[in-house]
Amino acid sequence: MDDSPRRPAHTTDLERRGPGGPDTALDLAALSPDLAQRLSAIGGEFQQLTLEYDFAMREVETKLRILQDEFLHLHDYNPIEHLATRMKSLDSLVAKAKRRGLPLDLDVWRQEITDIAGTRVTCSFRRDVYRLFELFTDRPDVELVQVKDYIAHPKTNGYTSLHATVRVPVYLSTGMVRIPVEIQFRTIAMDFWASLDHKIKYKYDGEVPADVAGELKEAAQSALDLDRRMERLHDRVHGDGGPTLLV
Ligand code: GTP
Ligand code: MG
Repeated sequence: MDDSPRRPAHTTDLERRGPGGPDTALDLAALSPDLAQRLSAIGGEFQQLTLEYDFAMREVETKLRILQDEFLHLHDYNPIEHLATRMKSLDSLVAKAKRRGLPLDLDVWRQEITDIAGTRVTCSFRRDVYRLFELFTDRPDVELVQVKDYIAHPKTNGYTSLHATVRVPVYLSTGMVRIPVEIQFRTIAMDFWASLDHKIKYKYDGEVPADVAGELKEAAQSALDLDRRMERLHDRVHGDGGPTLLV
């Protein structure tokens, strides 16, 4: 994906990156008649939901772009390498609801599923990850709902990233609603690891052989080493802490 700071990135899925708007395609014919009937009944409601979550995601993206522009303006430093957004498709929402034993009820999904709208922020360095997270969530119009710090506490498979669920206000003709958006902050090395991990899982359909899983975990350590090394190098060239700490 192009990393020019001003280019809006809108992708349909964080893992299957491609152009386009919300991906709502679902093969109704492949579902049981009962499920298909209930889904077509909630079609209009789903479009409204998609619209609201899309607005929220765009709000988040704009706020992040403003932060990025401010860094560029004040310090001639760009802390964001890539920014991608994606809306969960109806089929993956149905699959997630099924997995979690939730009914086919959009009000329940609104309450229980907080990653319908997702944004991924790929940063240059680990400290940019935390700095952007803090600056973004310090804003009074951003409500921090949940943080999962998989950088401080990596998953057992080696996955690292900082996940934040926030709620942002969206102003509709009917009034204001607060919509959740899941934001994943990570470095380029973490992102590289995560995309490879995703491809490997996809290939093995979730059942990754132990030796492959072992190598992946070692690769996660190499990604961490690389992050630290690049950060040290950056500090050597630009001075300790770099421009990110001046804000
Ligand atoms: P889901 O949202 O259902 O996935 O479960 P959860 O709420 O426990 O999710 P968590 O916050 O741990 O992770 C949510 C998202 O983070 C996933 O959809 C992925 O995009 C990413 N993620 C989490 N764990 C991994 C992992 O092991 N590998 C990769 N590649 N991505 C991961
Ligand atoms: Mg989740």
